Parts: sequence; structure tokens; C-alpha cells
Amino acid sequence: MANVRPSGQVIYKNDERVVLVTGGAQGIGHAIATSFVESGARVISLDLGDHSESTSSESKIETLRCDVTDTEACEAVIKHVLGKYQAIDVLVNNAAIQPVESYHPIHQLDESVIRRMTDVNLLGYLRMARLVLPIMLQQKSGVIVNLASGQAHRTAREVGVYGPIKSANVMQTRQWAVEYARQGVRVVSVSPGAIDTPMVRASLEAQGGEASLANRHPIGRIGKPEEVASAVLWLASDDAAFVTGTDLEVDGGLGAFGAFADPY
Ligand SMILES: NC(=O)c1ccc[n+]([C@@H]2O[C@H](COP(=O)([O-])OP(=O)(O)OC[C@H]3O[C@@H](n4cnc5c(N)ncnc54)[C@H](O)[C@@H]3O)[C@@H](O)[C@H]2O)c1
Repeated sequence: MANVRPSGQVIYKNDERVVLVTGGAQGIGHAIATSFVESGARVISLDLGDHSESTSSESKIETLRCDVTDTEACEAVIKHVLGKYQAIDVLVNNAAIQPVESYHPIHQLDESVIRRMTDVNLLGYLRMARLVLPIMLQQKSGVIVNLASGQAHRTAREVGVYGPIKSANVMQTRQWAVEYARQGVRVVSVSPGAIDTPMVRASLEAQGGEASLANRHPIGRIGKPEEVASAVLWLASDDAAFVTGTDLEVDGGLGAFGAFADPY
């Protein structure tokens, strides 16, 4: 059974679940944290600072300052959550960066940008999963949701670090799913198309072209963070109990649109 919003939209049930969302202060992570609160979960958002978007569900999201590249800080947060709730049911690996200075061919990139993106986008997911998995294995239950990207599957110019790491997020999903499937832990990923978040706004401001970005999606617009959140909620819920190792593209048809297709 699912909860239903006043609008009639279904909210997949995650009642009483303890949910960790990395990068929950804004964008897709914030929509995921908010939707989990609406579904009855206890939500802890880990993020860098105090820039949280506010909603009516805000007070119910516990926000902890934590850089996912800092193993000790991650350990401390997990210890705190475990002490408070004695469980971690869902980990959403969402925090990732695509700085404007990364939009260049790889030979022009500063190594410091490459290292930071690797540390957050690749090792951050691994670090959080490694710390949370022993708890999930002891519980004999848990779900890890990794935010990948359409750029994990199809390439574009000037995403030479971001795209391959997003592919690695899909392979992390498959690898961990296979590894832990018999021990009650499911691992899934979601690959969004372009979604209206500060990350995308920053790149549009740098590069221009919002209309053309929307037009590349067969649906004719970019997505909303809430549209990614509802997929994550379903994947984390028991309604998706037979789903593991899967990547779900939430992309307005972008991935179905072939390179040979006539542009809209
Ligand atoms: N927006 C899109 O169009 C889009 C498309 C495909 C995939 N994604 C993926 O979705 C996820 C969220 O993207 P978004 O657009 O909401 O990004 P965003 O930049 O708007 O928000 C990311 C959040 O992560 C936090 N964060 C960054 N580094 C961190 C760190 N080291 N430790 C803790 N928190 C950190 C930021 O402070 C921010 O609150 C990412 O994994 C991204 O790759 C986004």
C-alpha cells in the first residue's frame, strides 16, 4: 500500500525507515529527502554547509554537516545515526559535483578538478557504502540507491571525467547488487536526464542554451527534482523488492532518442 498526496500522487511507503541522503541540501537530493519525509521515513541529510532549500518538510529532515570525501566525518555521522535510531535502512548516494571548470576536453583539465570529482563522485559513493553495508548486513536488510546519469550511458563533449565516473556508478550498483543480493541488501541506481537543479543552472549559465537542452528531451522539457525523487522512493520501497542491480533512466525519453534521429 502506498501513501497518496492531496494531489492524488502516490508516495511509495517508506514508513519509519531510517534514510541517509548525501547532498540533501539542494536539488535532487533535497527533493529525495523531502519525499522520504512525506512517505513517513526518518531522514538524515549529509551536506557541506548551511545552504539548505526550505520546505514544509524541512524541520523533519535532520541536516548534518559532512563532506563525503572525509572518511572520519562520514564515520561520525553514521555512528550518530546508529546511536539515535539503531538502524540504517536506506542510503542514497546523491552528492556529486560537475564544476563549470570541468567542461573542457580532458587534456585541458586541472588535475585538482579531476581529483576532487573522483573523490566526491566515485570514492564518495564507495566510502558511504562501505561504512553502511556492515550495518545493513547485520540487519539482513537495506537498500542503496546511487544517483548515476544519462551521461553514464551516452557521451557528450566536455564531460570526460563526469561521464565515465557516472558509468562507474552504474557498475558499482551492479557489482554491489550481485555481491549482497543473498544477504538482504538491494542496490539500484537512477540515471536522470537534465533536471532543473542548481548544478544544471550553473552549467546553463556558463554555456547558455536552456531551450535547446529542453528540446533534446523527446518530452520537450527538462525534468523536475521531484520526478527523480518519486523513482527513488519506489526503488527503495518494498514494492520494488525484486529489483536489484538495475539502473532506471528518468529522462523524458532522452536515452531513447538515437543519434540518427531528426532533431525536434
Ligand atoms: N541535475 C541534473 O540534471 C542531473 C542529471 C543527471 C544526474 N544528476 C546527478 O544527481 C545528483 C544530484 O545532482 P543535483 O543536480 O541535484 O546537484 P546539485 O549541485 O544541485 O546538488 C548537490 C548537493 O550535493 C552537495 N555536495 C557536493 N559535494 C559534497 C560533498 N563532498 N559532501 C557532501 N555533500 C556534497 C552540494 O552541497 C549540494 O547540496 C548527482 O549525483 C548528479 O550527478 C543530476
